[in-house]
Amino acid sequence: MERRVISTESFVEDEKLENSLRPMKLEEYIGQERVKSNLKVYIEAARNRKDVLDHVLLYGPPGLGKTTLASIISNEMGTNLKVTSGPAIEKPGEMAAILNNLNEGDVLFVDEIHRLNRQVEEVLYPAMEDFAIDIVIGKGASARSIRLDLPHFTLVGATTRAGLLTAPLRDRFGVVSHLEFYTTEELERIIRRSAQVLGVEIDEEGAHELARRSRGTPRLANRMLKRVRDFAQVRYDGRITREVADYALNLMDVDKDGLDRNDRLILSTIINKFGGGPVGIETIAAAVGEDAGTLEDVYEPYLVQNGFINRTPRGRMASVHAYDCLGIDKTL
Ligand SMILES: Nc1ncnc2c1ncn2[C@@H]1O[C@H](COP(=O)(O)OP(=O)(O)OP(=O)(O)O)[C@@H](O)[C@H]1O
Ligand SMILES: [Mg+2]
Repeated sequence: MERRVISTESFVEDEKLENSLRPMKLEEYIGQERVKSNLKVYIEAARNRKDVLDHVLLYGPPGLGKTTLASIISNEMGTNLKVTSGPAIEKPGEMAAILNNLNEGDVLFVDEIHRLNRQVEEVLYPAMEDFAIDIVIGKGASARSIRLDLPHFTLVGATTRAGLLTAPLRDRFGVVSHLEFYTTEELERIIRRSAQVLGVEIDEEGAHELARRSRGTPRLANRMLKRVRDFAQVRYDGRITREVADYALNLMDVDKDGLDRNDRLILSTIINKFGGGPVGIETIAAAVGEDAGTLEDVYEPYLVQNGFINRTPRGRMASVHAYDCLGIDKTL
């Protein structure tokens, strides 16, 4: 499948934009009310006790604000943030070194934590539980293990696939928060905030139109805002209205339900090639030329949550809603 405007994965050119639009305080973080109010209590309690915050696991589809939340946690705790990711750490020694270099109270953010390999993960167990690591010295019969104390720290893990986390790792997180897709109203607020940061004028209907077509995802909302802004400047008078947003989004091939060409390809594949389902995710993946994991993490959650696809024990099925949106008559 092609790289799409609407892909929720982050692109290199997004990074600068994202960093400038990232809220720094819990107060500026829009939506995710349940996650936020829980975190607020835990953060306050930890600060009052002059203790570190419990380890936090954030999970949910890409672009919903996990990285943002990790940096907010360290800001709110008034500590430093160290960032690494599952695939970046190959050997247990590397993890031990990272942990050993932390300062008291630091937040260690491990992105894509489900991709840590088993030996590296095992270093984390005593580190998370007792703030210590076990190091083996010597070889063979004379080998012995010594325990090294670590500074107290908070691990913030992020994953798009909580199901891939091993039980021992998952159990060591005191706070587990699931990020949900944002409502249109929340996205509107995010868009208006971003527009203000970027210095673009956008009216209420323009913000609403963008929000409605952003797949519940702030990353997309911000990316589309940027593209639509360029249109507004070149083709119109710079102000983002409903008309400008609509024109630009249509050109980007994002339809009125927020579906793009790849979404429609997935839905029409299920309908036209597999009689509407049920069909297994692997089979759909092969038919559209995408990897099953990506299909499951990146494309499917939105389609399931918004009732385009139903998950059944025998596979995925296209809903009546999906037929309607593609303009296909189900009875034929
Ligand atoms: N609640 C929010 N309020 C305002 N802006 C947000 C919010 N959540 C996310 N954003 C914006 O969306 C962008 C993407 O967020 P972020 O990078 O934190 O997503 P992520 O969940 O870490 O994605 P990935 O799984 O790809 O790492 C950021 O630039 C941030 O500005
Ligand atoms: Mg991230």
